[in-house]
Amino acid sequence: MERVPEPELMEEKEQVISYDAADFSEGEVNFINQINHYLLRKNISLGEKDLIVDLGCGPGNISEKLAIKWPNTEVVGIDGSKEMILRAEYNKNISTNQKKLKNLRYICSDIKDIKSNNFLLKKRISLLVSNSLIHHITNLKDFFNTIKSLSCNDTINFHKDLKRPLDEKSALELKAQCSTKYNDILTNDYFASLKASYTFKELKNFTLENDLLSLDVFEDGDKYLIVYGNV
Ligand SMILES: C[S@@+](CC[C@H](N)C(=O)[O-])C[C@H]1O[C@@H](n2cnc3c(N)ncnc32)[C@H](O)[C@@H]1O
Repeated sequence: MERVPEPELMEEKEQVISYDAADFSEGEVNFINQINHYLLRKNISLGEKDLIVDLGCGPGNISEKLAIKWPNTEVVGIDGSKEMILRAEYNKNISTNQKKLKNLRYICSDIKDIKSNNFLLKKRISLLVSNSLIHHITNLKDFFNTIKSLSCNDTINFHKDLKRPLDEKSALELKAQCSTKYNDILTNDYFASLKASYTFKELKNFTLENDLLSLDVFEDGDKYLIVYGNV
């Protein structure tokens, strides 16, 4: 199936409300566990000196889980959509875990405009993550340029995203499954996201052709891809 790009930012209020109302917690917990296993395997423990950045943080579900999992670090969620950042701040304020989220803050910015020396970031980034972001980025080189410019030699990158289905029929089947749980806005957004997603080959080839050999691409089941390592 040909890739069909979708708008980068999720700016519509209704879209944000529908996304925020959905329960993706199983996948989110799984993502945090995958990061944790990777860090354990690398013998890395995160503490006070470390900064974790969550790109395309949306309503903050992953950012909050990162802040709770690594309570001594500083966690920054970045999203270019004002509506998403408002929602993330709201969620943080009403969270039953509010006391555990003191190490979390948000920045509203397009990821392409954030530089590692940005005064809002204050420290070098130890762990740079994203979930469900890559498919929003129109040109792959913008995503990789961003993570390259934000990373230093020892920054661990861990980015998970949807994998583009092989054909329209498979995408429509996934859309139909989604519609049994979620409303039309979210179902249509999900379908657009599936069509906008990249394939394993596209991501892998990009890393090979652009001298990003310390980054690896991994197929996580039949629906997801993970880009991880150093840049
Ligand atoms: C599908 S949501 C994922 C949200 C969150 N990471 C999660 O897993 O629930 C993608 C988010 O990326 C944001 N985004 C897309 N392109 C972006 C860009 N160029 N700069 C900043 N944020 C971006 C969107 O606004 C949206 O909030």
